[in-house]
Amino acid sequence: MNILILGGGGREHSLAWAVLQNPKCDRLVVAPGNAGIAAIADCASLDISDGGAVVTFAEEEAIDFVIVGPEAPLAAGVADRLRDAGVLVFGPSQAAAELEASKAFTKAICDAANAPTAAYGHFTDADAAKAYVQAQGAPIVVKADGLAAGKGVIIAETVAQAEAAIDDMFGGAFGGAGAEVVIEEFMTGEEASFFVLCDGTDVLPIGTAQDHKRVGEGDTGPNTGGMGAYSPAPVLTDTIAERALAEIIRPTMAEMARRGMPYQGVLYAGLMIEDGAPRLVEYNVRFGDPECQVLMMRLGAQAFDLMHAAAEGRLDSAQVNWADDHAITVVMAANGYPDSYDKGAVVGGLDTLPETSSQMVFHAGTTLKDGAITASGGRVLSVTARGTTLGEAAERAYAMVDQIDYPDGFYRRDIGWRAL
Ligand code: AMP
Ligand code: GLY
Repeated sequence: MNILILGGGGREHSLAWAVLQNPKCDRLVVAPGNAGIAAIADCASLDISDGGAVVTFAEEEAIDFVIVGPEAPLAAGVADRLRDAGVLVFGPSQAAAELEASKAFTKAICDAANAPTAAYGHFTDADAAKAYVQAQGAPIVVKADGLAAGKGVIIAETVAQAEAAIDDMFGGAFGGAGAEVVIEEFMTGEEASFFVLCDGTDVLPIGTAQDHKRVGEGDTGPNTGGMGAYSPAPVLTDTIAERALAEIIRPTMAEMARRGMPYQGVLYAGLMIEDGAPRLVEYNVRFGDPECQVLMMRLGAQAFDLMHAAAEGRLDSAQVNWADDHAITVVMAANGYPDSYDKGAVVGGLDTLPETSSQMVFHAGTTLKDGAITASGGRVLSVTARGTTLGEAAERAYAMVDQIDYPDGFYRRDIGWRAL
């Protein structure tokens, strides 16, 4: 098969790496890709949120199957355009992608499906939102309704902070994403991510992970896209996973189908777990980045068959073959990230590192310039390893990190600390 992956981060490098191990893949194109992806697949420059451009490209290149990495093309309806043109695609429709693109939509679905989640209010004006905050008290969570690149969530410790966040959002700090605001009960517990493939009818769990969103060691400092992750998530036991499927995920899928917007693709459920009970924090309609890197390292070539089965509506007969193993990924980021950072620094020491089924440096933001790998994003590398224990995986990953020569970057030395 000729396969096209949309995206160009660490997530897409790991997807490409897994897909290439599957003999069903004849040719792989990634758009736009990055320097790491270019070493293993063809890269194409393409506006991946332009459905028409993606369809034209797929037709010209005789693409049989498209895997959509990030949420933006899904929210823009690229999967619908491909399906309309008869191209097989892994990823939800624009309507179903509202599960990530609108927090108010997700809350309404949870209400209809009776899925446990934080109590909330949904507001289109600041005065009503502030009255709700005053009635509820703090801590409380203020969220821009729409996609805000992971920045639209404010955990307010005081009513005054919540009111300031409300003013910021309605004042346009998050653009159109903040035109509506969801205010939620602050949930306590431990967070974990649950990844499930869906084909519109059936669901198939493919793994659990925990990520480190804060920039600093000990989970301190500002939020980032994720500084590292590990799989499995020990807090998400089989019993809790079963509860999450029965109480949250299957009812959500049934409600989506009932509304005429069946969900097909990967569903990433962010869960808060307390006293053995899971509650939904949020849905994402794509793999997490860097969670995808640890999932792909554990699944390997079968990841392609599973995504293909989801796209073709065959999950009822699909099966995951689990190894009893652990994977961890350590993100190396540009100094300054998640605030402003410089691009263009050379990253050395990569050519001598092993690339095996248990050790891979996935590239997140890199470009090849004058023969050298240079940093071109905030998150630059995702150094990933597998082991029979999490400790062994961590040792392998940090041994690779120590060989990488990137003085303009930084990383956290404590990825996995809660589980270790
Ligand atoms: P979200 O973009 O909805 O995932 O929110 C980002 C992060 O904010 C989550 O991963 C949680 O750590 C935190 N968060 C979001 N909603 C809540 C909530 N209702 N209670 C506690 N923490 C939350
Ligand atoms: N690592 C968090 C995310 O991909 O949303």
